[in-house]
Amino acid sequence: MQCFYYFKDKSRVARERKSAPAIPNRSRSEGSPSPTTKKTNKSSGSAVSTGSSLSHRSIPALFEEKAQNLQVFTFNELRNVTDNFSQLNKIGEGGFGSVYKGYIRPRNGRGDRIPVAVKKLNQNGLQGHKQWMAEVQFLAVVEHPNLVKLIGYCAVDGERTIQRLLIYELMPNKSLEDHLFNRAYPTLPWNTRLNIALGVAQGIAYLHEGLEVQVIYRDFKASNVLLDNDFNPKLSDFGLAREGPADGHTHVSTAVVGTYGYAAPDYIETGHLTIKSDVWSFGVVLYEILTGRRSLEKNRPRGEQKLLEWVRQFPPDSRRFSMIMDPRLGNQYSMEAARRIAKLADSCLIKQSKNRPSMSEVVEALKQAIQTSETGGTTGPTTDMIEEVSSSTDLDGERNSDDARASEYSRRRMAHLEKLRENADATGRRRFMLMQRAKVQ
Ligand SMILES: Nc1ncnc2c1ncn2[C@@H]1O[C@H](COP(=O)(O)OP(=O)(O)OP(=O)(O)O)[C@@H](O)[C@H]1O
Ligand SMILES: [Mg+2]
Repeated sequence: MQCFYYFKDKSRVARERKSAPAIPNRSRSEGSPSPTTKKTNKSSGSAVSTGSSLSHRSIPALFEEKAQNLQVFTFNELRNVTDNFSQLNKIGEGGFGSVYKGYIRPRNGRGDRIPVAVKKLNQNGLQGHKQWMAEVQFLAVVEHPNLVKLIGYCAVDGERTIQRLLIYELMPNKSLEDHLFNRAYPTLPWNTRLNIALGVAQGIAYLHEGLEVQVIYRDFKASNVLLDNDFNPKLSDFGLAREGPADGHTHVSTAVVGTYGYAAPDYIETGHLTIKSDVWSFGVVLYEILTGRRSLEKNRPRGEQKLLEWVRQFPPDSRRFSMIMDPRLGNQYSMEAARRIAKLADSCLIKQSKNRPSMSEVVEALKQAIQTSETGGTTGPTTDMIEEVSSSTDLDGERNSDDARASEYSRRRMAHLEKLRENADATGRRRFMLMQRAKVQ
């Protein structure tokens, strides 16, 4: 899913662009400009603002200190390590550009070559450049096991072309999005899902609370959670990250950018960005982890396209709750832990942003849920589901229960069809099509 750039207030955007402090010299000579910035104390809409308190150093100031840890690559070097950006080496594509696998020599020249991911900006616009620079600056400053490591960068302002590239440690197991939603991958086991949720929560808590400056990530979603060899999660993509508000301010005012389905409604409505915007997005991803469904899915029945609206019909304390769980999990999960996580997600999704928990509170709640899971809460959905389907009364006194049941029936039927399709030989596949046709009539 790609980012949106939704500009609420054009005049504000124009102001923000004018005040952007962070554009390196775009001279027309060939060279590698460094992503340093002019310093200013004014919060702006630039890629990296200096919105934090005067007593704290800003990201650009911290970047100056850490910049020497990054390797600066020439375009030719990167062309060589990716075999001229060969399609065979392409491992991903996003809104920023294409991502290629390659190997580089260690900085000290000794030892084996290191596998890396090279992200190449394919749009030359100001927005792409600003995101590239934000990413370089934030990732140079942050350091945490759950944040992807930036190895270096390349920036070339040539006669004819402008090149912007980023070189990261390679994350061999693709993204959480791939594993949750792409049926070509084996089911992500329950415990792995919990560890991923905890890991990314710790990463975001570090951004919010563990640095000299507060960092708002702003684009939290399953595709930005990359997985290492052992399925440990690392957050990538800091192109939209922002410094938090200056002391005495409650929010940063900014153009609204992010991804549909994940951005907090208060942020979309007002352009007021806070760390609680990230907490909302985390709540969305928690529900994606539980259900195996995307936050927005156009090809679902109408009442199920928006994940948050759909799950609302199955509250965590209700007997119907188990129906939201990813059918691919079978009964291999702790029901009690799942309920706890859904409650936690609900608290992250409270409309009033100030009532959402902090990310360190989220981390604690997840640790407790994991403990519940390990000490063996009730397992699996089967009994709940059977009771639910056979029950003719609305046990929770909730409205829409008939609708919910009908939609659940339809969901399970579709899941069944999906399974058939996956396992089917040619005959099976024909049967699947017939059944679908039967359903339409
Ligand atoms: N460090 C990395 N190691 C391995 N694969 C990576 C790495 N960074 C990115 N990728 C791959 O490239 C894909 C595209 O990443 P990218 O962040 O550009 O786009 P996206 O997250 O899918 O979408 P968006 O542009 O909205 O953020 C990822 O989903 C992942 O599969
Ligand atoms: Mg991304």
